[in-house]
Amino acid sequence: MAYLCLMNDRTPFFDKFSESFNNDTFVKITLSKPAYKSDGLLNIYVRQVEIKGEPMLSFTYHYQTNDQVKNYNLEDAQEEIKEQLNGKFRAAILFTLEEDFTLQLSKKGKVSTRTGYPSFKNKPPQTHDKPKTKRAALGKYLTLLGVCDESGTVIPKMADKFRQINKYLEIIEGLIKNTKLPNEARIVDMGSGKGYLTFALYDYLVNQRKIDVKITGIELRQELVDFCNETAKKCGFENLAFEAKPIEQYNKKIDVLIALHACDTATDDAIYKGLKSNAELIITAPCCHKQIRQQLKGKEQESPILKYGIFKERQYEMVTDTMRALIMEKHQYNTNIFEFISNEHTRKNVMLVGTKSKKKPDTKSIEEKLESIKKDYNIEYHFLEKILEV
Ligand SMILES: C[S@@+](CC[C@H](N)C(=O)[O-])C[C@H]1O[C@@H](n2cnc3c(N)ncnc32)[C@H](O)[C@@H]1O
Repeated sequence: MAYLCLMNDRTPFFDKFSESFNNDTFVKITLSKPAYKSDGLLNIYVRQVEIKGEPMLSFTYHYQTNDQVKNYNLEDAQEEIKEQLNGKFRAAILFTLEEDFTLQLSKKGKVSTRTGYPSFKNKPPQTHDKPKTKRAALGKYLTLLGVCDESGTVIPKMADKFRQINKYLEIIEGLIKNTKLPNEARIVDMGSGKGYLTFALYDYLVNQRKIDVKITGIELRQELVDFCNETAKKCGFENLAFEAKPIEQYNKKIDVLIALHACDTATDDAIYKGLKSNAELIITAPCCHKQIRQQLKGKEQESPILKYGIFKERQYEMVTDTMRALIMEKHQYNTNIFEFISNEHTRKNVMLVGTKSKKKPDTKSIEEKLESIKKDYNIEYHFLEKILEV
């Protein structure tokens, strides 16, 4: 009886759901606030897809360590959501082109609803994507690096790392596709750390894609270099090697330069090496933007935009990386800055990528832009500019 009564309270949600589905204004549904986290199911996303010409609803069950996808017709989708809201999840939002409709259930089962302005102006594409293939094949290297256990299952506390690896490979896949690499392309990963992403890249390119590359990891810390070289040997990764040295001392030819989360100006040192070597691709995920921050110390009061701590940090990051991008453009690279992996998983989530261009840059206009940023933010110099001048 209580269940029926509660279901009546929820009727508007389901009416709006079917109405939006039928009049083609449905965007998506999210179910969140799991009542029990013990089964690892964190949320469910529902989107519209087309299967064999029929509109269907695709449910992505987002677990702590993996995602599962199931497809339903409207009627079964309604039943499935009712089932999930009957004790498993306590919040659902229906997004349509007309409104956002939120349904909340208190711990005692009391229903409250809220209508808001629509978050979406357009419907997303309805092509039926296959569940995303994991590019990081669950190989031995993941076990040796502590991402998977002996049975090859991702260890729960390493789930974010596994996601990051897959996202990284997805990005690499797109970048490599559009880049003409020579045979035995020399890929150098600067600041390779424990090598998670270096090993994943090697396994993906050499073992899965059968691309002939030689990958070198450059890392300051001898113990990490020894560990990575031993691991490469155990995996039989013949063309993967690590060298213990500062980035500044690497002087061989580079076709693809990678620097992921290399601390502060180590990113500049790495970009410098890529630029000097005329690398086809420069892939960086900058972090700890201290160099510009330190120069601005004490000058923050002059700019209202630097008044609030959180915005100040973001400004430093944006200014530092925008200047890096402009400097790369000045050296005849097309640049792109985008989110690497969602904020939810890590703060270090921005990628700055440069691809060698055939078109000569407008050097003068780029220099003017750099000067104008420096003037606006009271910046004396950018580290990358400075080392390039020498
Ligand atoms: C935060 S870790 C990132 C590791 C890896 N790239 C990743 O994204 O998982 C940064 C690594 O860069 C190394 N590093 C920092 N400055 C360096 C330099 N100038 N030369 C070589 N390695 C450096 C550090 O020792 C550290 O292991």
